[in-house]
Amino acid sequence: MTILLWLLILFAIHAVALAKQRQFNITHGSSLTPITNSSWFSPSRNFAFGFYEQTNGYAVGISIVGMPNKTAVWTANRNSPVVPSNAVLLLTSDGRLIVHVGSQEISVINPSRAIASASMLDKGNFVLYDSDRNVIWQSFDNPTNTLLPGQHISAGQELFSSASEADDSFGIFRLEMQHDGNLVQYPVDTADSAPYAYYATGTYRAGNNVTLNLDDDGLLYLHNSTNRLRNLTRGGYSRERTIIYMLKIDADGILRVYSHSLNQQNSSMIWSSTDDRCIPKGLCGLNGFCTNTDDQARCLCLPGFDFVMPENWSVGCERNFTAETCRLRENTSKYYDMRTVENTVWEDSTYVVLGRTTKEDCEQACLQDSNCEAALFKDTECRKQRLPLRYGRRDLGNSNLALVKVGVNFIPNEGLPNQTVEETKGKKQRIDILIAGITLTVFALLVLGISGFLIHRRKFY
Ligand SMILES: *[C@@H]1O[C@H](CO)[C@@H](O)[C@H](O)[C@H]1NC(C)=O
Ligand SMILES: *[C@@H]1O[C@H](CO)[C@@H](O)[C@H](O)[C@H]1NC(C)=O
Ligand SMILES: *[C@@H]1O[C@H](CO)[C@@H](O)[C@H](O)[C@H]1NC(C)=O
Ligand SMILES: *[C@@H]1O[C@H](CO)[C@@H](O)[C@H](O)[C@H]1NC(C)=O
Ligand SMILES: *[C@@H]1O[C@H](CO)[C@@H](O)[C@H](O)[C@H]1NC(C)=O
Ligand SMILES: *[C@@H]1O[C@H](CO)[C@@H](O)[C@H](O)[C@H]1NC(C)=O
Ligand SMILES: *[C@@H]1O[C@H](CO)[C@@H](O)[C@H](O)[C@H]1NC(C)=O
Ligand SMILES: *[C@@H]1O[C@H](CO)[C@@H](O)[C@H](O)[C@H]1NC(C)=O
Ligand SMILES: *[C@@H]1O[C@H](CO)[C@@H](O)[C@H](O)[C@H]1NC(C)=O
Ligand SMILES: *[C@@H]1O[C@H](CO)[C@@H](O)[C@H](O)[C@H]1NC(C)=O
Ligand SMILES: *[C@@H]1O[C@H](CO)[C@@H](O)[C@H](O)[C@H]1NC(C)=O
Repeated sequence: MTILLWLLILFAIHAVALAKQRQFNITHGSSLTPITNSSWFSPSRNFAFGFYEQTNGYAVGISIVGMPNKTAVWTANRNSPVVPSNAVLLLTSDGRLIVHVGSQEISVINPSRAIASASMLDKGNFVLYDSDRNVIWQSFDNPTNTLLPGQHISAGQELFSSASEADDSFGIFRLEMQHDGNLVQYPVDTADSAPYAYYATGTYRAGNNVTLNLDDDGLLYLHNSTNRLRNLTRGGYSRERTIIYMLKIDADGILRVYSHSLNQQNSSMIWSSTDDRCIPKGLCGLNGFCTNTDDQARCLCLPGFDFVMPENWSVGCERNFTAETCRLRENTSKYYDMRTVENTVWEDSTYVVLGRTTKEDCEQACLQDSNCEAALFKDTECRKQRLPLRYGRRDLGNSNLALVKVGVNFIPNEGLPNQTVEETKGKKQRIDILIAGITLTVFALLVLGISGFLIHRRKFY
């Protein structure tokens, strides 16, 4: 009997020690470093708050434990550079959560009141408390690029994509739960208006209190204050505790729901907002367009354009010549030719529409208009465009032709009509002869005049 009691007491002491080690309750003075002791775990050890590896250093955030690639579901300071391996994360005695890098001090989370303690919860929510154990901040209310079951995106909130799979700083796409009830995806740095949208649920009449939710069976849905409005996924997937579902706006701009198996340590995609990787607007930057090859998005430049940064497509394309651009001001159809790009769609930046034209008429109209740099031709309609052209992508179901003005005479290498060069050369020679002729004539007249004057003067003396 006494032995049993002792065993029980020993077990209890062990459990307390274990709990302490697991850091359920993170208190003042607790610290982390990237290499040893990098995380505070949730009681189930499914989630961890702390340092995780990026390409050139460490970020601070929440990740799912045990996945081959630490899968982050929340990231702090996405505007700041990653930190080196000598960084220290600290909950200070005056209640601030900071990272020390040498003598530099970076704030990680900055709630309005002093932090008394923190907890990494089993659902993946990292929570900060004040001294009265009130929640003063939680990651579930401050999403970055991921939505977890039990969390919701409320009206006015946005998710932002990461820069790349290996860099969780801000990328170039966003998802907004709008106040009108519509769930919409846009590129960053654009207004919330239809021409920029590339995905929308169309629920813009659903009222000002619609939320986006994910259930623990993978069901993704919109909810107003009282009802489920719209299911985006089928749901009904396994509810096993070892499977974690998450919605993420990926670096390529596409929304996907993933299922992570903690036992098998693998994950798979169960839903995506589109199968066409070219749908996200801005993937290819200005004057570039997106094509799908082998299920991968690839960017191409318009004819006569080259990538500004070949390794970063989103920066876009620029003309492959510069010196002669002033000639755009003249009516110099001789210096230009039109090139055709088939089956592409673009943002509309039309300044003139010509009806009942042929492709050839459209090309001529653009060549003879010094303001015209490109034209979109479809079904006898010619729409003159100013550059830059944006949001281009190949759409094989669309017969639209993009006609692009390219310089020809100052690039005598390739694809160039020979006679144009000869013609210009000939013209230049003719002008040279003309100038020489005039000079000679003037000189002759001058000589004649002077000698006439001299002869005339002689006669009088
Ligand atoms: C967690 O820590 C705070 C601050 O030290 C303390 O007040 C609270 O009782 C602790 N909670 C638990 C569950 O241990
Ligand atoms: C990890 O950090 C905790 C609290 O900050 C500390 O108690 C523990 O000793 C550290 N462990 C190692 C291996 O540094
Ligand atoms: C892990 O990351 C590497 C490189 O970042 C990638 O090639 C690989 O596909 C990833 N594996 C999983 C399971 O996501
Ligand atoms: C919005 O809806 C949530 C539930 O979805 C509800 O708790 C909250 O009170 C609603 N807010 C308003 C202002 O109607
Ligand atoms: C929520 O949606 C339901 C069904 O569409 C509708 O009947 C109800 O009035 C809506 N509630 C609010 C508060 O808008
Ligand atoms: C959404 O799915 C749930 C669960 O499968 C179902 O109960 C509900 O009726 C569906 N709602 C809509 C609007 O389709
Ligand atoms: C993980 O891998 C196992 C076996 O390869 C497979 O049966 C299972 O469906 C996978 N789970 C996920 C979530 O991808
Ligand atoms: C510029 O682009 C045009 C059209 O694609 C091409 O014919 C020409 O060779 C290019 N010039 C240079 C200098 O790359
Ligand atoms: C690519 O260019 C964009 C826009 O200038 C920039 O925001 C992004 O950081 C760049 N990405 C890389 C990987 O350099
Ligand atoms: C431009 O030049 C072309 C051919 O040289 C000529 O047919 C056309 O009328 C001119 N257009 C203007 C607006 O001067
Ligand atoms: C254009 O020039 C190239 C090389 O000088 C020559 O091979 C080709 O036959 C010429 N084409 C015409 C139409 O004159």
